[in-house]
Amino acid sequence: MNVTEVIATRHAVRQFSDKPVPEDVMLAILDAGRRSQSSKNTQPWQFIVVTDRTLLEAMSKMGNFAQHLAGANFAVLLVGLQDNTWNNFDLGQAAAFLQLAASDLGVGSCIAAIYTPDEVKKLLDIPEDRTAYCAISFGYPAADFKPVQMGGRKPVDEVAYWNKWEGKRG
Ligand SMILES: Cc1cc2nc3c(=O)[nH]c(=O)nc-3n(C[C@H](O)[C@H](O)[C@H](O)COP(=O)(O)O)c2cc1C
Repeated sequence: MNVTEVIATRHAVRQFSDKPVPEDVMLAILDAGRRSQSSKNTQPWQFIVVTDRTLLEAMSKMGNFAQHLAGANFAVLLVGLQDNTWNNFDLGQAAAFLQLAASDLGVGSCIAAIYTPDEVKKLLDIPEDRTAYCAISFGYPAADFKPVQMGGRKPVDEVAYWNKWEGKRG
């Protein structure tokens, strides 16, 4: 698939098969994340790859919608340098690159918002001054996986204005 096709077809995957993701595929996903653009090319991220089931289960309890981490083949916790607009924007970019590359390689993924950053930092020995509010589950989709249809996406003409606020196309 090309990038446009991946973007048009990918959905969050929260149920995973037991089939392990080979290390070369994991590394290809991480490589895509490190290639992400960032403000002034600061690359203000560390990716903590979590494969340990006990750690994944503990992390799955650190957000109201983080349960899917427990069944992931692995997760990546995005650790940032500072809690400011551009650092947080950069982490979002990295998340997108990681997830798009995963989809291209047949690996499903879903973000989990971490509500207790201090708890996850303690669990994974992360320095206190770093941010840690986003983990991403990865794994091959379960055989019975069906995307959750929560309303699809707004049409282009609803989200894009031309030239000025509420400006119309053409
Ligand atoms: C910033 C952000 C936070 C998210 N947090 C969670 C989360 O905590 N738990 C979860 O299951 N999905 C989470 N998601 C996934 C969204 O629910 C998902 O991308 C959205 O519903 C669209 O799903 P779809 O691509 O399958 O249509 C998050 C996504 C983003 C971008």
